[in-house]
Amino acid sequence: MPGGDEKSASGTARSAVGAGNVAEDTRLAALLQQACARGLSRLDAELLLGRATGLSRAMLIVDGERRLGAAALAGFRTECARRLADEPLAYIEGRKEFWSLDLTVSPDVLVPRPETELLVERCLAALPATPQRIADLGTGSGAIALALAHERPQWSITAVDASPAALAVARGNAARLGLRNVQFVEGSWCEPLWAEPFDAIVSNPPYVAPDDPALAALRHEPLAALAAPDEGYADLLAILDAAPHHLRHGGLLLLEHGNTQAPRLAAALVARGYARVVCHPDLAGHARLSEAHWP
Ligand SMILES: C[S@@+](CC[C@H](N)C(=O)[O-])C[C@H]1O[C@@H](n2cnc3c(N)ncnc32)[C@H](O)[C@@H]1O
Repeated sequence: MPGGDEKSASGTARSAVGAGNVAEDTRLAALLQQACARGLSRLDAELLLGRATGLSRAMLIVDGERRLGAAALAGFRTECARRLADEPLAYIEGRKEFWSLDLTVSPDVLVPRPETELLVERCLAALPATPQRIADLGTGSGAIALALAHERPQWSITAVDASPAALAVARGNAARLGLRNVQFVEGSWCEPLWAEPFDAIVSNPPYVAPDDPALAALRHEPLAALAAPDEGYADLLAILDAAPHHLRHGGLLLLEHGNTQAPRLAAALVARGYARVVCHPDLAGHARLSEAHWP
């Protein structure tokens, strides 16, 4: 990778993307080719070169003979190295689109996933557009809370997270998007919720088993946002245990989870007295969203 080569002690392992004795080919077309040869996908290479040049992906092709200046080249190299080390593009760009909202993200928050839009869709479909009180537990960047707040200005959303750093990102997003119907509170799951009952509690909590090998590929994201004890069930079960104390009668609980976790969660929901327990498949057909009502 370019950054890795530059950091080599001997300085002999110079790449065509990095500095070297031979004259560098700094034409945009050549830089794209070199980045791909080092392992970046064409899309990532184009997006990073687009950032370095300010050009659209189409213009990178049209302007392929144009040369990149030294400062922009250094920035491009650094970002290629970060991406080659599996850092999510969203952290490099500092932003991620969710529900058509442009969200700021940092390594303090999970990068919002498109699958989570299913939870937003289901919440919007299940509840009336009249004023509702909603709690989003483990709000991270604020993705779910802000999508709901954007779609339903008359709803009042309470967004909870245990991480003050995540809440700072979420608050910043709410302010930048001008969404005033969300209150952010620090604490663990339902603990900071007030006595007044909620119409719905929604959450995309950590649900990956701590020994899941998939965590290695997610190492740039906060572990506290991803992994939970008890094979990934601990936080899901803590939420479904506490939610009845904060839901009105008939109130809705929506939980995103892993694609093998639905049966145990359905059994736990039924055992605790929830009604109308259903699981919704995501676009890939995986059972990823459980819904239940407190009778
Ligand atoms: C999977 S991330 C979800 C982030 C965001 N809701 C989304 O869908 O992109 C889980 C979030 O739960 C938060 N979290 C972890 N443990 C928590 C706890 N005990 N109480 C509240 N939030 C917690 C993490 O800080 C993280 O922001």
